[in-house]
This record gives sequence, C-alpha cells and structure tokens, in this order.
Amino acid sequence: MKGLILVGGFGTRLRPLTFSKPKPLVEFCNKAMVLHQIEALAAVGVSEVVLAVNYQPHIIEQFLAKESDKLGIKITTSLEDEPMGTAGPLKVAEKHLNDGEPFFVLNSDVTCDFPFQAMIDFHKKTGAEGTLLVTKVTDPSKFGVILYDEGGKINQFVEKPQHFVGDRINAGIYLLSPGVFDRIELRPTSIEKEVFPIMAKESTLFCMELPGFWADVGQPADFRSGTALNLASLRESAPDTLASGEPIEGNVMVAPDAVIGKGCRIGPDVVVGPGCIVGDGVRLVRSTLLGGSRIGSNSYVADSIVGWSSKVGEWARLCNGCVLGEDVSIKSEVCASGATVLPHKSVSADIMSPKIVL
Ligand code: GDD
Ligand code: MG
Repeated sequence: MKGLILVGGFGTRLRPLTFSKPKPLVEFCNKAMVLHQIEALAAVGVSEVVLAVNYQPHIIEQFLAKESDKLGIKITTSLEDEPMGTAGPLKVAEKHLNDGEPFFVLNSDVTCDFPFQAMIDFHKKTGAEGTLLVTKVTDPSKFGVILYDEGGKINQFVEKPQHFVGDRINAGIYLLSPGVFDRIELRPTSIEKEVFPIMAKESTLFCMELPGFWADVGQPADFRSGTALNLASLRESAPDTLASGEPIEGNVMVAPDAVIGKGCRIGPDVVVGPGCIVGDGVRLVRSTLLGGSRIGSNSYVADSIVGWSSKVGEWARLCNGCVLGEDVSIKSEVCASGATVLPHKSVSADIMSPKIVL
C-alpha cells in the first residue's frame, strides 16, 4: 500500500516557527509532525509515502532520508511547479501512487491516533470508492462538514459552510480507491470542493467515525490544545513516554537529555524538547519548549511555545499564547503576554498585550 501526505502551503499560520523549518518538520510532542503520520502508515504496512510539496523540498528530503532508513519505508517527494490544491497533487503523483490498490491521503497538519487498520477493514467492508475519517467539533465553519447515514454513506460534503449544516467534519484523512484518479484533472483542484461532493452525490463516498482525539495543529492555539490531547492519549497508550516524579504534574513529556533544575513545578500539558535546560524554581504549564531552549531560574511559562535555542532570562514571565521563534532572547524579569517574537530577536521591555515583535 502507498500513502500521500499533502505538505503544500507555506505554514503561515504557524509563524514564526515556520520561518525556521517547514511546518511538517516542526516537532509536535518531540517528533516532527509528519513523522507521527509516517510512522503510523508504516505500522499498517504502507511501503511508500509520497510527500506532495510545493516549497523547500530539499530540507524535507534531507530530514526524511535518515528516517526512511530507520523505518524501512520508501519516502519520496513530489514537487509541484505551482500549488495544485488538495486534489491536483494526487494526479501529479499518480504514477508513484497507483499500484491498483487503495491508498491513503493525509493532510499534513492533522493528528489523532491514526486508526489506519480499521479504515482498511471498513473500506473493504463497504466497497467504497473513498473512506474519510469524521470527527465532531464545536465550530464546524472552518472545516469540511459531512452528512452521512447510519452505515457511514456520505450524502453531502460541504466545505467551509456559510450556514450551520452539521457538526461532523472531515478529519483530513482518506483511504481512496484508484478509480478516484479518473475524477481528477492535472490542474489546481480542491478535493473538498470539486471531487468529494460529486462522489457523495454518486453514493461512493463513506466515512468512519474517529475514535479518540483529533486536532488540526496548524496554528499555535490548536498546536497547544492538540499537545494536551496527544499527551492524554499517550497516558493511555504509552504511559512510559511521559515523565513522572517530583516536579511533574499531570501529563508531561521531557526529552531524555533535557535538564530540569531543583524546586520546579512542571505541568500539566508540557513538552520539554531535547537539549533544553530549565533552571531552578521554574514553573511551566501548558507549554512546549522546542529543542535547545533555556529557561532561567524562577521564571514562569504558561500557554506558550518557546522556539529552538531561545533563551528566557531569570524571573521572566511568558503567558497568554506567546510564541517565540528560533534563537529569541527574553531578558530577565521581562513579562510578555501574547507576544509573537520573530527569530533572532531580543525582548527587553514588558509586552502587556498581544503584539508581534519584528
Ligand atoms: N501539495 C500541496 N499543494 N498541498 C497543499 C496545497 C497545495 O497546493 N494546498 C493545501 N495543501 C495541503 C496543506 O498543507 C494541508 O496539509 C492540506 O493540504 C489541507 O489544506 P489546509 O489549508 O490545511 O486546509 P484546511 O485546514 O483549511 O481544511 C482542510 O482540512 C480540514 C481538517 O483540518 C479540509 O480538508 C477540510 O475539509 C478539513 O475539515
Ligand atoms: Mg489545515
């Protein structure tokens, strides 16, 4: 079996992190986003994953070359000359993907427990041309909304509806039979607007309800809430991957080589990346520290993402959705609330309301 991951777009909503690396390579719970997906595909026997990219292919290729050997799975990139949307890339990659078998298609910014084997079984059982995963959300307006019957047959697919249609949405994970290639032309095309609605009308599109959590982690607030959901899921499925002991509260992941000082309180919903150094008396809550970042003694970091190799001084305070790019410096005793700080910048005065530091 094969799989295609849609990796296009510039990741603008995850800036300033995506100034330093393409979105799929940004670490989510200490693992590149796309690796969560590739590992899960490899686990159900997918032998080749095609990444449909329209920018920075070399960085992605270099990173994945190493992983490909480790996982024993072939990873190739399919480069578009112009953005081909969410269906066009399937046509571009048809010769890699089409081996006569159903194949997986994934949006690169979604995460869940990836129930791929259950999808394969369901797809066989229904004889569908396409099987989508469906999940429930509170604000369906920014998603593709799905109406379906008890057996999972989709009657209607409405992308980004203007008015309320329903609260079950497309989770961005598909298993498609090769017949779908005949529905797509070699031009920029939206699978959600131009392909799925027709398949729904022809009753060949089915959906399977996603058990467990789901998150679209393509922007900072969702990245943080998705982290909490993913850690909670790991608590059930792989508790050994979470930290325990004295300074830890709730679900926390700490890279093996990270250093945590004395008298800290860490958690819940915290990820500390590889090579991070956390000083004494630090309080971390609902935050991610990306690799190599350092938090000075007695600082407080809540609801924030600290970029790679950034440095927060002593007695500093980050809260309310701060996102620091790579190599940012927050001086000692500075208080930042809702600050987005671009890579290599230094902040030496308080920021009391949401602001972008250029
Ligand atoms: N290769 C390539 N080329 N990939 C692209 C392109 C392109 O031109 N445009 C978008 N993508 C990729 C994105 O990187 C992402 O992985 C995926 O296609 C979906 O695009 P988004 O821009 O993230 O779409 P969305 O989040 O607004 O909506 C989609 O995802 C929702 C779930 O998160 C839709 O599939 C919705 O129906 C769905 O509910
Ligand atoms: Mg998205």
